[in-house]
Amino acid sequence: MAIKEHQIVMLGSNLGRIKITFNSLVAILITILVVTSIYLTQEGGQWFLERTIYGESLFSKCNLFHGKWVFDNESYPLYKEQQCSFMSDQLACEKFGRKDLDYQNWRWKPHQCDLPRFNATRLLERLRNKRLMFVGDSLNRGQWVSMVCLVESSIPSTLKSMHTIANGSLTIFKAKEYNATIEFYWAPLLVESNSDDPVKHKVADRTVRVQAIEKHAKYWTDADIIVFNTFLWWRRHAMNVLWGSFGDPNGVYKKVAMVRVYEMALRTWSDWLEVHINRNNTQLFFVSMSSTHQRAHEWGGTKGENCYKETDQITEEGYWGNGSVPKMMQVVENVLQDLKGRGLNVQILNITQLSEYRKEGHPSIYRKQWEPLTEEHISNPKSYADCIHWCLPGVPDTWNELLYAYIFNR
Ligand SMILES: *[C@@H]1O[C@H](CO)[C@@H](O)[C@H](O)[C@H]1NC(C)=O
Ligand SMILES: *[C@@H]1O[C@H](CO)[C@@H](O)[C@H](O)[C@H]1NC(C)=O
Ligand SMILES: *[C@@H]1O[C@H](CO)[C@@H](O)[C@H](O)[C@H]1NC(C)=O
Ligand SMILES: *[C@@H]1O[C@H](CO)[C@@H](O)[C@H](O)[C@H]1NC(C)=O
Ligand SMILES: *[C@@H]1O[C@H](CO)[C@@H](O)[C@H](O)[C@H]1NC(C)=O
Ligand SMILES: *[C@@H]1O[C@H](CO)[C@@H](O)[C@H](O)[C@H]1NC(C)=O
Ligand SMILES: *[C@@H]1O[C@H](CO)[C@@H](O)[C@H](O)[C@H]1NC(C)=O
Repeated sequence: MAIKEHQIVMLGSNLGRIKITFNSLVAILITILVVTSIYLTQEGGQWFLERTIYGESLFSKCNLFHGKWVFDNESYPLYKEQQCSFMSDQLACEKFGRKDLDYQNWRWKPHQCDLPRFNATRLLERLRNKRLMFVGDSLNRGQWVSMVCLVESSIPSTLKSMHTIANGSLTIFKAKEYNATIEFYWAPLLVESNSDDPVKHKVADRTVRVQAIEKHAKYWTDADIIVFNTFLWWRRHAMNVLWGSFGDPNGVYKKVAMVRVYEMALRTWSDWLEVHINRNNTQLFFVSMSSTHQRAHEWGGTKGENCYKETDQITEEGYWGNGSVPKMMQVVENVLQDLKGRGLNVQILNITQLSEYRKEGHPSIYRKQWEPLTEEHISNPKSYADCIHWCLPGVPDTWNELLYAYIFNR
């Protein structure tokens, strides 16, 4: 969306310029010549990639989210699962017995350009004396773990730490030499809910206070880069909404249908941002829906199966599963558009389409199980396969490469 607008603006200004003078026309031609020769001499080289991605005009011509996965076992994975000190057992698929490891070797290739190569040192320098914060649900936490793994190998063990505050809601990775932090804050619905406990959040009847966010948001106020997400926890027909506080006898409860309730919550969130965020210093991102692969018949597999045993990607261009709800993406887009009108820009990381292709990227049965498996489970592995989260190294590393590209494209 933002990219499209940019293009229109550029086109407009070019047309204006062409009208002005012959001199400026010559200047434009020379620019084109220079750019073309850079292209010809450095094609495919890293130098060219950095030029394309950071040169503002070229960046705006490339939709980073339109592209394809390219097998690349030379450069990928970007880190080794066993070498990441802060790897999560929920995402460590190799450790938990997965044998097919090609899921670690895919590079995302946008159609019109290449992603810049992830450079941990460069990112840490950018984050010096700053806070990079991920806020959201377990998918966002997976992206945070990926980010920590991407940078931590370049830091000696005495110069990094991990600790938790705010009753476990906020986990902070610190790169001491840089005085930089990469943090994760658990708020699966962004607004307050009865699922806010970072450990015990499986409640029978989920209730959300769509108008209350301060309890969480006070931890984000001073962050320099914030990456939000919220989607999966809303994917149901209706939600129990509470006006009033938890435990207040005068509280009013109502069931509110999707998509309306999602919009109410995002409005609360965006209003908070509008008032509290220092727009001069803060970069804001919203990560779109993470794709799920829970019904194999959607991609032409056998009915009743899911991502269990999948080792290949979906090759159909533009494939879109039923787990991703376009109407909810539209709500996000509308809310962010309004916020932009009020002078605050939140960049969408539109990772849904690229993740749709990756039916083989989920942990499936290769992760730590929180409860002991029953006989029934063991006899039917797909019944406990996790087709929602993502193995690391894997798909969320790409989300972070996209984030990296945007952080430096400011
Ligand atoms: C990469 O994959 C190819 C084809 O599967 C294989 O021949 C090659 O040995 C692999 N290279 C590395 C570095 O793993
Ligand atoms: C990574 O970034 C650092 C700091 O900007 C730079 O010195 C280094 O050469 C870069 N490494 C690569 C492989 O580009
Ligand atoms: C360290 O970083 C924090 C932000 O995370 C900042 O407030 C503080 O001033 C920094 N310390 C120094 C010594 O620059
Ligand atoms: C931690 O939880 C306790 C008990 O629920 C609560 O009283 C306290 O305010 C919480 N502390 C923070 C920092 O959220
Ligand atoms: C942001 O920058 C503008 C223009 O430089 C300045 O007028 C304004 O005071 C700044 N706002 C904050 C909150 O720093
Ligand atoms: C997806 O859901 C829609 C509506 O619920 C249904 O009509 C359609 O058949 C589903 N598609 C697949 C592939 O399951
Ligand atoms: C995200 O990408 C999908 C698929 O390309 C597209 O349909 C959707 O409109 C995009 N959403 C936003 C908010 O840009």
